[in-house]
Amino acid sequence: MRIVTGSDHGGLTLKAALVARLRAQGHDVEDVGTHDASSCDYPDFAIPVGNAVASGAADFGLLVCGTGQGMAMTANRIPGVRAAVVADTFTARATRQHNDANVLCLGERVVGPGLAGDILDAFLAATFEGGRHTGRIAKFTALEKA
Ligand code: RB5
Repeated sequence: MRIVTGSDHGGLTLKAALVARLRAQGHDVEDVGTHDASSCDYPDFAIPVGNAVASGAADFGLLVCGTGQGMAMTANRIPGVRAAVVADTFTARATRQHNDANVLCLGERVVGPGLAGDILDAFLAATFEGGRHTGRIAKFTALEKA
């Protein structure tokens, strides 16, 4: 899969571990930054990642900051993005199956690298179930056009 990723300084170390994991699994990964530990602003990375997913240039986005929250708040303002903050494997699967989430947001200060890897694997392995969930998503994506 084509996966675009980004982090701020608070997510840099976890992002690096997950990029290595994804590349070892054979995924095509683009990292938009940040690339060093100096303090920076999470929207500067959430926006290009969200745009890549919304445009179809990437299949999924992976955003990491201290909590995942700022990344998700930013990315979800881009029409077509459905970003989910996830801290457990059940939610990782369910947000793909039910919400068709296309951007995974993780908090390096919340989840350890082992659990984060399991969350990422579960997210990518799950598929959207469609059916009753399609209309529910349409109800909130309609807000993007209002
Ligand atoms: C940076 O200190 C921190 O605020 C950021 O990584 C993130 O947690 C914001 O949501």
